[in-house]
Amino acid sequence: MANSNRVALVTGANKGIGLAIARRLAQAGVHVIVGARDERRGHTAAEQLIAQGLSAQSVHLDLDDWKSITDAAATIDAEHGALDILVNNAGIFDFADAPPSKASLEAVRRVIDINFLGTLAVTQAMLPLLRKAHSARIVNLSSSLGSLTLNGDPASTYYSQRFIGYNASKAALNMLTVQLHEELRDTGIAVNSVSPGFVKTDLTGYGTMTPEEGAKLPVKYALLGEDAISGKFVEPDGETPW
Ligand SMILES: NC(=O)c1ccc[n+]([C@@H]2O[C@H](COP(=O)([O-])OP(=O)(O)OC[C@H]3O[C@@H](n4cnc5c(N)ncnc54)[C@H](OP(=O)(O)O)[C@@H]3O)[C@@H](O)[C@H]2O)c1
Repeated sequence: MANSNRVALVTGANKGIGLAIARRLAQAGVHVIVGARDERRGHTAAEQLIAQGLSAQSVHLDLDDWKSITDAAATIDAEHGALDILVNNAGIFDFADAPPSKASLEAVRRVIDINFLGTLAVTQAMLPLLRKAHSARIVNLSSSLGSLTLNGDPASTYYSQRFIGYNASKAALNMLTVQLHEELRDTGIAVNSVSPGFVKTDLTGYGTMTPEEGAKLPVKYALLGEDAISGKFVEPDGETPW
């Protein structure tokens, strides 16, 4: 599928994996819209891409602010008329999150609000534009920590990472992938959950991969061609159990 004239929205693209995804998509010839909750940071990131000869713009988009989401959809509609790729990348982690017996309820609520409800809100607002594109792609930035199976598997490296808010938010995001995939079955729109790997960013400050490495798999799924697989949960090592 030719990428020129294709338009992608990447949420939370002012830094981290989101910015690396935006750069890789733009390098593939896609016009990239950098979604950012802070307009100045979004503008700076888009300018950085433009300075590298890439096609980009920014849009104010706060997952916690419904009006910013609907305004962003209206702007994209007015300027592009359709959206080919939605990368639901924006997300948070909270250090007051913890195992179920100890986690701060406020932290759990915040994390689920942004990572799940905010992403659902963006997806709902962008769906009319995605339906107008030819074979649109939706990539949900999930985490292997959202795997119910791995959370209950003592042999898994993720077993000991008990963050009830974060892990539940990504399990809920995976449910969005499954249900949306089924709902959009006959539309040509592919929806997948992609875990980028363990990436060192501001999210936690820990990780073994660079944002550029973490962007590889999400970009691969954003650029899937005709007959794209859909309704899957993948990580760099292959398919992840739900
Ligand atoms: N790093 C990893 O190892 C890893 C592993 C699995 C999954 N993930 C997922 O990958 C995604 C990107 O994470 P990252 O590691 O790149 O983290 P990051 O560097 O902290 O970047 C997160 C991005 O999300 C934005 N964001 C936060 N709250 C937002 C809101 N309310 N509205 C709009 N944007 C908001 C941030 O904007 P500000 O700059 O304004 O804060 C930032 O642009 C997340 O969904 C994360 O859960 C990461």
